[in-house]
Amino acid sequence: MSELDSKEKSVARPAQFSKGLEGVIASETRLSLVDGENSRLIYRGIPIHELADNSTFEETVFLLWDGRLPGGAELKAFKSKLASQRKITPAILKVLKSLPVKAHPMGVLRTMVSMLGLFDKDADRIDLENMKRKAIHLTAMFPTVIAAFCRLRQKKSPIAPNPRLSHAANFLYMMNGKRPEPEMEKALDAYLILLADHGLNASTFAARVTVSTQSDMYSAITSAVGTLKGDLHGSANQRAMEMILKIGEPEKAEGYVRDLLAQKKKVMGFGHRVYKKEDPRATAFRAIAQRLLERTGQKKWMEISNRIEKVMLEEKKIPCNVDFFSASVLYVLGFPVDFFTTVFAASRVAGWTAHVIEQLTDNRLIRPAASYIGENDQHYLPIEKRQS
Ligand SMILES: CC(C)(COP(=O)(O)OP(=O)(O)OC[C@H]1O[C@@H](n2cnc3c(N)ncnc32)[C@H](O)[C@@H]1OP(=O)(O)O)[C@@H](O)C(=O)NCCC(=O)NCCS
Repeated sequence: MSELDSKEKSVARPAQFSKGLEGVIASETRLSLVDGENSRLIYRGIPIHELADNSTFEETVFLLWDGRLPGGAELKAFKSKLASQRKITPAILKVLKSLPVKAHPMGVLRTMVSMLGLFDKDADRIDLENMKRKAIHLTAMFPTVIAAFCRLRQKKSPIAPNPRLSHAANFLYMMNGKRPEPEMEKALDAYLILLADHGLNASTFAARVTVSTQSDMYSAITSAVGTLKGDLHGSANQRAMEMILKIGEPEKAEGYVRDLLAQKKKVMGFGHRVYKKEDPRATAFRAIAQRLLERTGQKKWMEISNRIEKVMLEEKKIPCNVDFFSASVLYVLGFPVDFFTTVFAASRVAGWTAHVIEQLTDNRLIRPAASYIGENDQHYLPIEKRQS
C-alpha cells in the first residue's frame, strides 16, 4: 500500500460524520419539538407561548412528566407534593456551608446535585417509580439550594421555604425574604415555563447519555448541570447581562458591539444551532423585559439591548436567542448576575428529568463512533532509540 493510500484510509470518514452532531438525529422524543424552520417550540404538542400565558410552572412540569395537562384535583395534589419536598436537611445545609463562598454558583449547584444523591438511600434505584420520585425531589430542591447559597454568600441566613407559595413565588421569597409582587411572580413563572425543555440541547443530551449506561438520576442531572455551565449554552445569559451592564449607556452600545465583531468575538445571547430566523422564546422575553424594565424605571437596559440587537441584525443577520432578553428579566427580578444560569437550571431540571425517564423507558446505550484521523502505521520504539 502506498503512503498516500494509507493516509487516505486513515482519514476516511463515515458518510454520516457531522461536526458537533449538527443535524444528526440521536434520539426520539415525545417531550418537545424544536422547529427551527417555523421558529416554533411546543411541549407535548402545546405551543410554549400558550403555556407561558396561561399555565404555571407546576402545571407545565406535570405536562412534561405525564404527557397531558392535569385535572384540578391532580394539579392541587401535584403542587403540594412538589412543595413538600423543598426543605433542606441540616446535613445538606452543613455541606453547603462548607463550600467556598467564592465558588461559581453553577459549580456549587453541580456539587450539590451530586451530594443530594449521596443522601438518598435509593439513589441507585432506576425503576420508574423511583425515578419519578427523584425528579420531584430535584425539581423541588433546586431553588432551595440556589437561594440558600446566595444568602450564605451575602452572609445572611437561608430562608426556609414556604409551602403555601407557588414554585416561582417561593423561589423569590427564599432569595429576598419577602413575598414577591404578583407581576414578579408571574415573570419568573413564565421564565421557568419557557426554559423547561428544548429538545436534544447539549445538557439534555448529556443527561440522556449518562442514564443510557444505566447510571442513576443524580449522576445524569450532575452531567446536565456541568454541561449547561458553558458559555455556549446556559452561561450565555450571565455573559449577555455582563455585556449590557458593561456598556452602561445606550449611545455606547453600537461601538461596543462593532468592536467585538471586528475582533471576531461572539456576542453572547445571539445565534442558535437550530433557530436561524427567530427564537420563539426570545420573542416572549422581549415583551416581558420591556414591560418589567419600564415598570421598574430601568428602561436604559432595554435601550442598550435594542441597539445591540440592531447591530447584530445589520452586521451579521444573527437574531438574539433565549438568553438575551431573559437576562434583563432575571436582572429585574433581583438575581445576582452570576446566579442567572442556576435559574436556567432550576427550570430545565424539569426537562432533564423528563428526558432521563423517557430514555430509560426505551433505553439503548448511547455510544456514537468517532472517525479516527490519527496515525495508523506507528510502532513501539524503545526509549533509548527515541529522538526527544
Ligand atoms: C449558539 C451557537 C454556539 C450556535 O452556533 P453554531 O450553530 O455552532 O454556529 P457557529 O458558531 O458555527 O456560527 C456560524 C457563524 O455565525 C457566527 N456567529 C454565531 N453566533 C455568533 C454570535 N453570537 N456573535 C457573533 N458571531 C456569531 C460565527 O462566528 C460563524 O461565523 P463564520 O461562519 O464567519 O465563522 C453560537 O451562535 C454562539 O456561540 N452564540 C453565542 C453564545 C450563546 O448565546 N449561546 C446560547 C445559545 S441558546
